[in-house]
Amino acid sequence: MNACIRAVVRACLRQDMQVSGIMRGYEGLIDGEIKDMDIASVADIIHRGGTILGTARSERFLTPQGFQRALDMLDTFGIDGLVVIGGDGSLHGAAELSRAGIKVVGLPGTIDNDLGYTDFTIGFDTAVNTALSAIGNIRDTSSSHGRTTIIEVMGRRCGDIALYAGLAGGAETILIPELPVDIPDMCRKLIIGKNRGKLHSIIIKAEGVEIGTVELAKQLEEKTGLETKTVILGYIQRGGSPTAKDRLLASRMGCYAADLMASDIASKAVGIRGDDIVAIDLEDALKTEKPSHTDFIRLCDILS
Ligand code: F6P
Repeated sequence: MNACIRAVVRACLRQDMQVSGIMRGYEGLIDGEIKDMDIASVADIIHRGGTILGTARSERFLTPQGFQRALDMLDTFGIDGLVVIGGDGSLHGAAELSRAGIKVVGLPGTIDNDLGYTDFTIGFDTAVNTALSAIGNIRDTSSSHGRTTIIEVMGRRCGDIALYAGLAGGAETILIPELPVDIPDMCRKLIIGKNRGKLHSIIIKAEGVEIGTVELAKQLEEKTGLETKTVILGYIQRGGSPTAKDRLLASRMGCYAADLMASDIASKAVGIRGDDIVAIDLEDALKTEKPSHTDFIRLCDILS
């Protein structure tokens, strides 16, 4: 997020625009928490996790009064273009502002990689690498003790973190919200693995999977007799210094958004397709369905 803020601010300044930063997203917009940004205000942040502008989930923005307040604040502060960095909810908010006549460009900032219009979102690669590093550490103890370990990663509706970290981390099984859980099949796999001398098994499970992680561990242990531990990675996935891939993505997308603003092109969502940064009509972008990489499950099955 910070690498992206830096890029938007500096690329807009370079094109002689004035830039303000809105604190805490739509919540801060409603409350007029708006400050001028200059070249120095985004110095020394490209390597930092989180966001210097802060963030919030805004219930008020979803109400007619809150939304009107947000519009009034934009007018009060003389803001005639808005770059929104965020996930599905933020981009829906951006579309709503666009319908109300505000010049808006949306950028995909979420670790979940759950936006269909773009191959990757800002933050996803860092989250995957954080999960991967955790899998490596957990694998050591799992193997020493001969245990089955279920590692829960983030992803309420989208299993991409689980798929990417699971496949890269050599997991035995990957569970994602998009597919049902087959417990007998999992048990069969665990027992076959044990019988061929496997010391441990790693199961990567996205948080949005139909069965809870602790409950799943209980059932697997009961049905296989294999000691089964759980690790919930939680918020460590949403912090830390971003990977090179994320910094590049954020920088490229941020500069692209500034170019759109400078050319007076609005109501767009910026994304990446292949290696190309693209701008898609915001409404169309939000309607694009997310293709699920379920082929990764088959690969995981072949390779484990
Ligand atoms: O949307 C990103 C995400 O990290 C999800 O994967 C996770 O379920 C959620 O945010 C957690 O949100 P909160 O900060 O509200 O607990």
